[in-house]
Amino acid sequence: MSESNSFWIRNLREVDVPALLEIERSCFPDPWPVQWFKEPIRSRDICLGACNGTKIIGYLICCREDNVLHLANLAVDPECRRQGVATALLNQVFQMTRNARFSEVYLEVRRSNIEAIRIYERYGFQITGVEEQYYQGSEDALIMKVKPNGLV
Ligand SMILES: CC(C)(COP(=O)(O)OP(=O)(O)OC[C@H]1O[C@@H](n2cnc3c(N)ncnc32)[C@H](O)[C@@H]1OP(=O)(O)O)[C@@H](O)C(=O)NCCC(=O)NCCS
Repeated sequence: MSESNSFWIRNLREVDVPALLEIERSCFPDPWPVQWFKEPIRSRDICLGACNGTKIIGYLICCREDNVLHLANLAVDPECRRQGVATALLNQVFQMTRNARFSEVYLEVRRSNIEAIRIYERYGFQITGVEEQYYQGSEDALIMKVKPNGLV
């Protein structure tokens, strides 16, 4: 689909799930189970992988919920961070959905996840709410939203 110097972006396939799980487990204390990857890949959702050669180094899973897009999961292999992988994935999804007329795009992020919050802010996401004890009953989630025209 799209390329940068050291990686390219393509749609994810079911065969990619073991590689996704490996990254997922290295990124999150409460990793998604297999089925949470398989379902959006099988459906019409937007599931993108960043690949270095044939190796997946990052992914972005977005679920359509009526006229709203839920940015459900974003992760980059710890060895491959700060090289613009997440930026390329987000650029791709915003490009793909440019004409889709979503009323908003939203996500949840751990309150302590400063690096992720920084990247979302770059795209105009703003904190609009808090889900208390959302993660394993122990950490709050910040709800962040952006409207396609950049206004929340
Ligand atoms: C958050 C994450 C996806 C960023 O991926 P990445 O490919 O390293 O991000 P990019 O290289 O595109 O960085 C883009 C910008 O995000 C911000 N950023 C990324 N990592 C950062 C860090 N460790 N500290 C501060 N800012 C950071 C910076 O503004 C950066 O721009 P810069 O490199 O020009 O300063 C990655 O750190 C990750 O997988 N974290 C664990 C999983 C996770 O938290 N996912 C989000 C769940 S909501």
